[in-house]
Parts: sequence; structure tokens; C-alpha cells
Amino acid sequence: MSKGNIIITGVSSGIGHAIASAALSEGYHVQGIGRTAPSDLENVSNWRFTACDLTNLKSIDNLTLYLGENNILINNAGTLGPVMSGEKTDTMSIDYCFRLNVSAPIRLTARFLSESTGKQQVYFTGSGAAEYPISGWSVYCASKASIHMYAKVLSTEYPNIPIHVFKPGKVDTPMQEIIRKANKEDFPAVSSFISEYKSGKLIKPQNVAKYLLSVIQSIEKPDVIFSTSPL
Ligand SMILES: NC(=O)c1ccc[n+]([C@@H]2O[C@H](COP(=O)([O-])OP(=O)(O)OC[C@H]3O[C@@H](n4cnc5c(N)ncnc54)[C@H](OP(=O)(O)O)[C@@H]3O)[C@@H](O)[C@H]2O)c1
Repeated sequence: MSKGNIIITGVSSGIGHAIASAALSEGYHVQGIGRTAPSDLENVSNWRFTACDLTNLKSIDNLTLYLGENNILINNAGTLGPVMSGEKTDTMSIDYCFRLNVSAPIRLTARFLSESTGKQQVYFTGSGAAEYPISGWSVYCASKASIHMYAKVLSTEYPNIPIHVFKPGKVDTPMQEIIRKANKEDFPAVSSFISEYKSGKLIKPQNVAKYLLSVIQSIEKPDVIFSTSPL
């Protein structure tokens, strides 16, 4: 018997792929939404992939959402956006980052809340970068701060629905590879990210997935914003 229906964005790699894989193993029906389908999940039962570039908000309006009695939305897809000092940020990269990291999850959540019946839970992949400034990441930090606040507001509007942002910590995904390739002039802290990677300190995406699924399944929920890698 299905444990419920999980809809998750950004499943081709990293945290989203790990959550989708773990949720399928635990018996959920999973709908992945993103630009690229993960080939290893293609023939797994209860998996379905919906192709969508989430920066195109109109295509979010046209998606079919596969819903049931117990529905969980995980807004995970995201981009680091431009890595550079504030004066260099350009129109296209600001717009792209905010559409993917902020507008898309807001619109998808609106559809989910209005169209699903039965039990509902909503999660967002947030970031510590929403809470402390990182030089060179002004657009990313601002986009994640926006989604943290959005979730806080929603949780006051829907006190009976679990609505949470999880902060995954530094996770070993393609996004971290992009971070390590930045130059020091644009991103002064790059060397600390490289040394944390080299000393094996990055968190495995599978551990984030395991923690998040335990929260989804538990009746006692954490604060609106919580960490999946508590120290
Ligand atoms: N890794 C970390 O240390 C870390 C820390 C804090 C927060 N996060 C957050 O975790 C989330 C997942 O990132 P990740 O680290 O797992 O990196 P990742 O492996 O690069 O995953 C990003 C996912 O977003 C999807 N995506 C990108 N652009 C898209 C678009 N236009 N439309 C639809 N999907 C799109 C990507 O798939 P396609 O490119 O195939 O579309 C991919 O599946 C992000 O929200 C990120 O901000 C990561």
C-alpha cells in the first residue's frame, strides 16, 4: 500500500535525487518535476517524471499534479545564481535565480494547497545562506531568505498544515562543485569550501533524505525552519 504521494522538484541529481530514491524505497508514490529525468529511476514502480523548466511559470500552471489522500510537496530545485560582487550582477541571472528559487516554489505551492485534498505537508529546501551573509552570493542569499520568510508566513495562514524549510548544511552535490570552481575575487570564501570538501566534511545527500523522511513521517514536527544535519 502506498504511504502517500510525494511531489518533488529537481530530481536529476543531489538532494532531490536522494529524496526521490529514498521515498520510492519506502513505498511512496513519487512525482519528480524538473528539466532532466534521472535514468536510474525510469523503471522503478510508483515513479513518474514530469518534464518542466520551472523558470517558466506558465508551464507550472499547466502541470498535472498527481495527488492522493496523503500529499507531500517538496520544493527542492534551486540554483546558486550569480557568484560575484553586487555591482556585477546582471538582469538575466538575477531574474533566473529568483524565478527558480522563489517564484516557482511559491506558484507550485499555491497550486498544491488549492488542489490537494486529504492530508497535506509542504517542504522547501532552504539554506543557512538565508540567515548569514556570504560575500559573492548576494542573489542566492536573498532568494533563500525570501523562501524562508514565505514559509513562515504560510505556516501562520495554514496552522494545521505542516509547512517547513529544511536547511541541509553543506551537501556533496553538483551545486557544491560549482561553488568550488568560483574564483577568489568573486567569492572570497572559496578556499574554505575546497578544504571542507577535501577533508571529507560534506554531508551525503542520502543522509539529508533519511532525516527529511523521518520528519515527514513523524507526528511531532520541528520548527518551521529546521536543520537536517543538527550538530
Ligand atoms: N548542496 C548544498 O550544499 C546545498 C546547501 C543548501 C541548500 N541547497 C539547496 O538544495 C537544493 C538542491 O540542490 P543540490 O545541492 O542538490 O544541487 P543540484 O544537484 O545541482 O540540484 C539542483 C536540481 O535543480 C534542478 N533544476 C535546476 N534548474 C532547473 C530548472 N530551470 N527547472 C527545473 N529544475 C531545475 C536540477 O535539475 P536539472 O538541471 O536537470 O533541471 C537539479 O535536479 C537547492 O535548492 C539548493 O539551493 C544545497
